Amino acid sequence: MMNSTEKANHIKARKTDDTHGRISALTAYDYPTARLLDEAGVDIILVGDSLGMVVLGFPDTTHVTLDMMLHHVAAVSRGVKHALVIGDMPINTYDTPKQALTTAQALVAAGADVVKLEGGVGQVEKIKTIIAAGIPVIGHHGMLPQRVLEDGGYKKKGKTKEEFQAILEGAIALEQAGCFALVLESITPELANEITTTLSIPTIGIGCENKEHPQTCDGEIAVITDLIGSYPWFVPPFATPRADVSWEISRSVSEYIDSL
Ligand code: KIV
Repeated sequence: MMNSTEKANHIKARKTDDTHGRISALTAYDYPTARLLDEAGVDIILVGDSLGMVVLGFPDTTHVTLDMMLHHVAAVSRGVKHALVIGDMPINTYDTPKQALTTAQALVAAGADVVKLEGGVGQVEKIKTIIAAGIPVIGHHGMLPQRVLEDGGYKKKGKTKEEFQAILEGAIALEQAGCFALVLESITPELANEITTTLSIPTIGIGCENKEHPQTCDGEIAVITDLIGSYPWFVPPFATPRADVSWEISRSVSEYIDSL
């Protein structure tokens, strides 16, 4: 059994390892889902702060607290034997390096192997502080859901020259700070491709490719409810549902009611 640092290093080494295919990552928020994903062989399970929307019914991730995350990280970690478990650091819990370290330590104590935080150049000192304490960090760059209110919505990033350059520089800074991998969210395929070829750590994309530009990152991450179709009220345009769990729930409940 690998320890957390070995698991993170194993994912990092996948950048140059062609024998295992692309890195697979999915979110999970509870024990049964995490156990099923782990038993199916997914490489990474993220207890994402998307929890706020797809499980807790908030309009965005800015409502998620550390206590909520700890509760779900603990449930997920009880179901996982092999995958790398990422604990997402919620908004306002990593405003200073000291606070970032306290939050990272709490997520690891709850069962996370590593932690994830959003942002680029401005997060370098916080990342270095967490890594110096022995906790591996995965960065999250591009479109940052925790900034949705300031940004006025979920907008694809990297379309202007300035934004392209700033995000590329941020990604380089995250690698130099010691991140073992990066999540890239909703950036243009051209920028995702540029970051993926520039960095020597793996990139794991969500909403960064299209038909003309597939596989712009070293791996893919999806929100589990988008993959299995269990949150029908909002499905992002880039999602590829592979099941219709919400329909199955409605069907079985109707059948049950009718059978009484
Ligand atoms: O919270 C989350 O689920 C995430 C993914 C969208 C990458 O951060």
